[in-house]
Amino acid sequence: MAIAERPAERGTAPQPGAGSGSDGPPLEFHVFKGIPGEEQGDVTYRVPPVTGMVVLDAIHWIQKHVDTDLACRWNCKAAKCGSCSAEINGMPRLMCKTRIDDLPEGPITVRPMKAFPLIKDLVTDVSHNYEVNRRIPQFTPAADEPTPFVIKDIDLERIYEFRKCIECFLCQDVCHVLRSHDLQEQFYGPRFFVRVASLEMHPKDTVDRLEATRTEGGLGYCNITKCCTEVCPEHIHITDNAIIPLKERVADRHWDPLRAVSRLLLGRR
Ligand code: SF4
Ligand code: SF4
Ligand code: FES
Repeated sequence: MAIAERPAERGTAPQPGAGSGSDGPPLEFHVFKGIPGEEQGDVTYRVPPVTGMVVLDAIHWIQKHVDTDLACRWNCKAAKCGSCSAEINGMPRLMCKTRIDDLPEGPITVRPMKAFPLIKDLVTDVSHNYEVNRRIPQFTPAADEPTPFVIKDIDLERIYEFRKCIECFLCQDVCHVLRSHDLQEQFYGPRFFVRVASLEMHPKDTVDRLEATRTEGGLGYCNITKCCTEVCPEHIHITDNAIIPLKERVADRHWDPLRAVSRLLLGRR
């Protein structure tokens, strides 16, 4: 839905400093604008191309030259802060890491993440994620654990992958359990299965988070579609290395008859 097409001439004239290295006809962007309760829809902007530009460059150009009240969230422009998440041509991606020349020719759509409540334009309210985060018990070593910790390299490598998470929440956005089924209250989501896995696999951690992950975290709702893994900008193997091992641990504990007998007889978890 177009609510207002900005005059093409405002968006086509290369501006001093913005057009250096520009080449070819203007790029057409359809960018979502609106706030809850008011008219919302895509607005068309034409942006002069610059060699090597990313989608965030185009949004900044629009803010500077055409539409100063277009809202977006960003901080690092280096794919490290996780702030500039959006849906580009329908795919959850970081605006600062998406090069224009990697996209197919034609109009480029930029919309806010669908799985989170809209605040304004490209900015969504991701605070629910921090509430989920608070429900997961933090790293807890044994009280008498000598420090500094001595940890084997192999254990360190395994949890290091999970520590690369930049909390962009693109995986939460793409996951159908949150995006289409709205099970925010019953499902932690892939980012937090990554966090649970990083703690559960930490050799010095002593807290058991598996039962809570199975019940209040809704681990069983995940049907391993791997969509979360496909969009992760840090290339974390969310399903293979975090979710599936957690599911295996839950299955071992709950459905392995020998473990069930051992639990009954010995009271072990
Ligand atoms: S693999 Fe599981 S957590 Fe990841 S997107 Fe699919 S259902 Fe969601
Ligand atoms: S796991 Fe990947 S996609 Fe999910 S929040 Fe972390 S960095 Fe983003
Ligand atoms: S601006 Fe920091 S990740 Fe894009």
